[in-house]
Amino acid sequence: MRYRAIILASVMALAFENASAQTLDQRAAATAAAMTPAERDNLAHGIMAIPFGGFTAVPPEATLGAGYIAGVPRLGVPALRESDASLGVAWIGGLRHDGATALPSGMALGSSWDPDLERAGGLVIGAEAKAKGFNVLLAGGGNLVRDPRGGRTFEYLSEDPLLSGTLAGAAVAGVQANHIISTLKHFALNDQETARHSVDVHISDAAARESDLLAFEIEIERSHPGSVMCGYNLVNGAHDCDSDYLLNQVLKRDWGYKGFVMSDWGAVPGLQAAQHGLDQQSGSQLDAQVFFAQPLLDAAGKDQTMNARLTDIATRVMHSVYYAQLDPNQHTSNYDEKSHLALAQQAEASGVVLLRNQNDLLPLAKPKKIVVIGGYAAYGVISGGGSSQVQGKTGPAFTVPVYGPSILGGINGPEYLPSVPLDAIKARAKSTDVTYRGGDYIAEAVTAAKSADVAIVFATQWSSEGYDEPDISLPNGQDALIAAVAAANPHTIVVLETSGPVLMPWLDKTAAVMEAWFPGARGAEAITSVLFGDVNPAGHLPVTFPASLAQLPRPKLDGLDTIEPDFTGTGSKTNVPVNYDIEGSDVGYRWFVRTHAKPLFPFGFGLSYTSFTTDGLRLEQQNGKLVALAMLHNTGKRTGSGLVQLYVTDRAGKKGERLAGFEKLTLQPGDGTEVTIPVDARLLADWAGKNWHVAAGSYSFALGSDASTLSAPISIKLDDQTLAP
Ligand code: BGC
Repeated sequence: MRYRAIILASVMALAFENASAQTLDQRAAATAAAMTPAERDNLAHGIMAIPFGGFTAVPPEATLGAGYIAGVPRLGVPALRESDASLGVAWIGGLRHDGATALPSGMALGSSWDPDLERAGGLVIGAEAKAKGFNVLLAGGGNLVRDPRGGRTFEYLSEDPLLSGTLAGAAVAGVQANHIISTLKHFALNDQETARHSVDVHISDAAARESDLLAFEIEIERSHPGSVMCGYNLVNGAHDCDSDYLLNQVLKRDWGYKGFVMSDWGAVPGLQAAQHGLDQQSGSQLDAQVFFAQPLLDAAGKDQTMNARLTDIATRVMHSVYYAQLDPNQHTSNYDEKSHLALAQQAEASGVVLLRNQNDLLPLAKPKKIVVIGGYAAYGVISGGGSSQVQGKTGPAFTVPVYGPSILGGINGPEYLPSVPLDAIKARAKSTDVTYRGGDYIAEAVTAAKSADVAIVFATQWSSEGYDEPDISLPNGQDALIAAVAAANPHTIVVLETSGPVLMPWLDKTAAVMEAWFPGARGAEAITSVLFGDVNPAGHLPVTFPASLAQLPRPKLDGLDTIEPDFTGTGSKTNVPVNYDIEGSDVGYRWFVRTHAKPLFPFGFGLSYTSFTTDGLRLEQQNGKLVALAMLHNTGKRTGSGLVQLYVTDRAGKKGERLAGFEKLTLQPGDGTEVTIPVDARLLADWAGKNWHVAAGSYSFALGSDASTLSAPISIKLDDQTLAP
C-alpha cells in the first residue's frame, strides 16, 4: 500500500533517535534537577487555552486550543501547546479560524482492522497539529466500547482489547513520529457519558486487566505515548485521576510507564491526586481549585515526599519532551491538504462495512434513475460532537440545533461536514438521473422511490461527548421512512451514518445496507466509491450490533433515566454505581458468546464484492512463542482486501471466545497466501493477582469470518507459564 513506505521511514527514524533510553532518563532527571521548585511546579498544571466563561485570560504566546503550559526557556524546555485530536485537529467552534482534515470516526478506522492505515492517520493529524503550532495532542482514544450507547463510541476503536490496542497504538505512534507528544485517553474504564463525573465503575482487578486495561497496556507498549490522560469517572470508589490503583500501581509500577499522567479537563478532586499518581492538572480553571499550583509547591516545600513527587513530575514531563524530541523553536507552517484529504477518503472507504447485499445489487451497475433520500444527503455528512469535533477551513456545512446554544460548536447539535453525498453520486453517475427527497414526508419519499430504479436512503444518528444515546434506535422517525421506502422499491439501499450499533427493524425488506459511521471530510466521495465498486468494501465490524437492548449486560444504562443529560456532567451530586462485574472481561462479542445470544450482526462481520476463504490453520511454537499460520484465498472475481480472524475458543478447559490475532491482506482474484499470526500469551492467560498465568493444558483455536462463524477448532498443548505484567 502507498502509505507503507512513509510510515516505515518515519518509525525507523524515531526508533533510531530514541535508541538510548539510559541517556533519556539521565537527561530528563538532570533538567528537572536544574529547575527551581517553581519551575518544576509550572509543569504540573496548565490552563484551558480557550477564552470563555470569564476564565483566566489566554496568554498571547499560547495557541488557542485545549491547553497551554508555559515552558522554561532558560533550560530550553518548550511550552506545551495542546489540542484535541481524536479524529483530526479540533475545531474549537472555529475560534482559531483555521481548519483541519477530519478523518472518519474511530468506528470507521476500527472497521479497517488496518494498523498501517491507523498509523498513516496519526501521521496526518500530527503533521497538521505541528504545522498549527501544537506539540501535545489529546489523541489516542484507547477505551473499549463497553456499551453501544456510549456517547464517545465514535472516538474509540473497538470492543476488543487486541484490536483496540493494536490500532490505537498505531495511531499514537503515527502522531508522535512528527516529534510531538500524544496522549492515550481516557484512562480507564471511561465507557459511558451519563453522569460522567460521578459514574463509579465496579470491576474486579482481574476483569479490568483482561479487558480495558489490557487494551491500554498494548497501546502503551506499541506507541510509548508521552502522556496518558486519566478520565472523569471513578473506578471502585476513586476518581480515575485520583486512583492510586490505576495510576501508581497499574500504570507506573506494573507497566513501568515513564511519561506523565495529565488529568482530563476538570477531573481533579484535590491535591492528594499528586500522591496517587497524577502529574499534571489540565484545564485547571475547571476544577474547584488549582491544586497543583501554589498548594503543590507549598506542600513540596514542607514535605520531603511531596518534594520528591514534584521532582518526579518534572522528570516525567521532561522524559516525554525528550522522547518525542519536541522542537523548542516550533513554527507554524503549511501542510499538504490534498494528500491529507485523500487519506481521509481512503480511511473511510476502508472503514465502510457492507452489512447486506441481496442479489449483488451492489456495486451499482448503471441505473437509469436514482433517488437519494434523507440524512441531509444533499448538504453534507454528519460528524460527532464535543471536544473532538473537526471541521475544514470553511466550517460546518450547517448545524442542526438540538440542545440550544453553546460556546463550543458541535457540542449541542449535529454538525455536518461539507462533503455532499448527492453531489458525489451525481458526479460518479453522470448518465443517471439523480434526484433528492429530504424524507420529512414519508409519502413524498415513497412516491419518488416508486419511480426510481434504485432508492438510496441515508440515515443518521448523532452522538456527542457529554451524552449517551438513550437506546440504539435511529432517531427522528427514520426507521419508518426506511421501512416505507423499502416496501415501495425492492432496490433500496440504506447508508448508515451512525456513531455505533443501531437496530434495523426494516433489515429484511432492504436490498443492501452499508454502515458508513461518521464518514469524515471526504465521506461522500468514499461512500460513493464503494457504492459504485471503485473500491471493494473490506470493513469488518469492530463492535457487535445487538438485536435488542435486552441482550446487553445492562439493558438499562445506569443513571440514564434519573440524570439530566449534561455536557459538564455535574448533573449528579452523588456517585452513580455501575457494575461491570456482570460481564467482567467478557465485553462485546465475548458476552454474546457467554450468553448464547444471537446478535443482529456479529463482531468481525463484513461483506465484500469478491469472496474470501481461510483454511489450513496450523499452530506452532516458534522460539518459545505460539504462532498460528493460515491460508487466505481470494475466491471471487475482484481484487480486494480479506481479513483473517483468529479466535481462541478453549483455554485449558475454559470455554469462551477471545480474538487472538488478525491480519488483513489485499489479494488478486484467484490468489492465496499464507499469513503468520503471533499469539500474545496474555490473550490466553488469566490475571492471577500479580501476573499473567497461562494454565497448562489444551488450547483450541479457530478461524472466523466473524465472531459467530468459526471453522472447526484445532488444539495445541501448552505448558504452565507465568508472565510479568
Ligand atoms: C474531554 C477530553 C478532552 C478535554 C480537552 C474533555 O471534556 O473529555 O477528551 O481532551 O476535554 O478538550
